[in-house]
This record gives sequence, structure tokens and C-alpha cells, in this order.
Amino acid sequence: MISMTMSLPTHIPVLLSEAVDGLQARSGGYFIDCTVGLGGHSAAILERISPDGKLLGIDSDPEAIKVARAKLRDYSEAVTLVNDNFTNLDAICNKLNFHPVDGILFDLGVSSMQLDTAQRGFSFQHDAPLDMRFDPQQELTACDIVNTFSEQELACIIQEYGEEHRYRRIAQNIVQSRPITSTSQLAQIVEQVLGRQHTRIHPAT
Ligand SMILES: C[S@@+](CC[C@H](N)C(=O)[O-])C[C@H]1O[C@@H](n2cnc3c(N)ncnc32)[C@H](O)[C@@H]1O
Repeated sequence: MISMTMSLPTHIPVLLSEAVDGLQARSGGYFIDCTVGLGGHSAAILERISPDGKLLGIDSDPEAIKVARAKLRDYSEAVTLVNDNFTNLDAICNKLNFHPVDGILFDLGVSSMQLDTAQRGFSFQHDAPLDMRFDPQQELTACDIVNTFSEQELACIIQEYGEEHRYRRIAQNIVQSRPITSTSQLAQIVEQVLGRQHTRIHPAT
């Protein structure tokens, strides 16, 4: 009889050994992973700090916390996982009495699980509703932003976070194309301004 095991979503952690070396994670240390994701970096830290060290893992995405909890089950005595925004780090550490701390890791970005789940709206590889919330309890979606923010506000976001110098034209095209409801519609609106580039990277990335 073939036994069925649930396979967990995977994410290849970026610069794994460099990050853990940089943290100087050593036996008995106290560390915080502010973006625990699917637990790849956390597992490597736990391996180095066990058996006496402790790790606090934070992620704003409840799905990520579920997966990380399953992945890190062998270290359940040493790890505390918290579903929260890392902007609340001080309050979380105070509440859990988690200090002093030897090192903190931030692996900013999106996990493969978030990108691959079409309805999360992080990727235009799938046509999906414009969502892009890490925390589904948060009210504001990407759809709200592109459809209600002023042209000036959108231009600021695209300039600051997209580092795109044609931010004014893109913001104007967004406002003129409203309502915008899907990831591929938004990607097309950006492409209309920037044109198809001769690289593998889509201009809306
Ligand atoms: C690139 S992934 C981390 C992958 C992780 N290092 C691993 O090895 O699996 C980034 C994670 O940060 C989380 N995140 C993004 N912004 C956050 C915030 N402000 N507070 C807490 N978590 C956040 C995302 O939900 C995502 O799971």
C-alpha cells in the first residue's frame, strides 16, 4: 500500500548560508526571523543554535505561519511563531519576554507560495483579482489602491517602490484605464507605457 503524505509548499531561501553566516548564528543564541515565510532560513538558524538557542519567527501571512509550523516541527521546543507584522517587533518581543537578541533576519519580498497561488494576486503569470495582501485580514487591497488613489499618490508609489522613471505616465494611464480589476489588466497598462522590452523580464515586474 502506498502511504500518502501531504507535501508542503516549498520556497528556495535566497543566500541561505551567507545569511546564516552573516548572523553568526551559534549554539545557544537568541535570533529573530522577521519574515519566516516557509521556514527555510529559520530551519538553518535553528540547526546552528540548537539545542539551547531560541528562535522567534514572525510573518504577516497566516498561511506562511501554518507551513512554517509544520516544517519546523522538529524544533517545536526552540521556536515561537507569531502571525503579525514585523513593524510590531518591539511589542512582540516585550510580550514574549524575548530578549536580549543576538541577531535579526529580514528576507524581504514574496515567497514562492504567495507567487504561485493565483488568487493572492501577486503574479501576472495568472490572471487573477488584484489583491497582493500579505495579511488577508488587512482591508486595503491592490485593487483599492489602483482604483481610488489619486494620480499623484500612484506616481509617488511607482517612483519610490518601482524605481521607474516613467512613473508619471504609468500613473496617468492607470487613472485613465479605471476600473482595473485583474493582475493582467494592470500589467498591460504598464506595458502600454513602457513597451515590450528585449529581456525576459516583463516591464510590469
Ligand atoms: C521572501 S519571503 C521569506 C522566505 C523565507 N526566508 C524562507 O526561507 O522561506 C518574505 C516573507 O515576508 C513576509 N512579509 C512581508 N512583509 C512583512 C511584514 N511587514 N511583516 C511580516 N511579514 C512580512 C511575507 O508574507 C513572506 O512570507
